[in-house]
Amino acid sequence: MQTYQEFIQEVLIPEEELHKRVAELGAQISRDYAGQEILLICILRGGVMFLTDLIRTITIPVAIDFMAVSSYGVGKYASDGEVRISLDLKTNVSGRTVILVEDIIDSGHTLNSVLDLLSTRHPKSLDVCTLLDKSERREVEVPVRYCGFTIPNKFVFGYGLDIDEYYRNLPFIGVVDLERYKPIKNNGDC
Ligand code: IMP
Ligand code: MG
Repeated sequence: MQTYQEFIQEVLIPEEELHKRVAELGAQISRDYAGQEILLICILRGGVMFLTDLIRTITIPVAIDFMAVSSYGVGKYASDGEVRISLDLKTNVSGRTVILVEDIIDSGHTLNSVLDLLSTRHPKSLDVCTLLDKSERREVEVPVRYCGFTIPNKFVFGYGLDIDEYYRNLPFIGVVDLERYKPIKNNGDC
């Protein structure tokens, strides 16, 4: 298996910059929702590292829950517009103040489907907080209230984001050089 040094093109966002921006987002959320309790919903698995750092910077009462969605694959590194829920929430979101936490918005299809689904459960409010936004790739418009960084159309990894399920543990966001990356044959994903 390759080490990331064998295929990284550049470090796009270093660790310190991530932490600084995440803290800004946490402070902003704490101000915007002052006096309320919020429920942060993390879309597994890419958003986990962002969520766990983000909640440590939030100063108002916060609960968390998780859901997982899978896209029916056409392109290996892009979603094709159809998603299915593979793990649903434990929490009843009816009447709750909800913020959906995402790692990255690319075409927008994943988020759009999740927002549609959650809206049918009648939350009091439903906002989106994404760490990264590849806005030039957008195929469907999604309302984003909080965004960490707008990034160029490059495949990125680290800080929760995977390539074939690995490299999520890296503390920075890097860009993959797809010429040098050798795909793993069996990543154990289904
Ligand atoms: P969308 O439905 O096209 O917006 O895709 C969103 C999902 O695709 C994200 O939640 C990620 O799981 C994945 N994704 C999109 N771009 C990247 C990337 O550059 N690196 C890693 N995962 C990505
Ligand atoms: Mg994701």
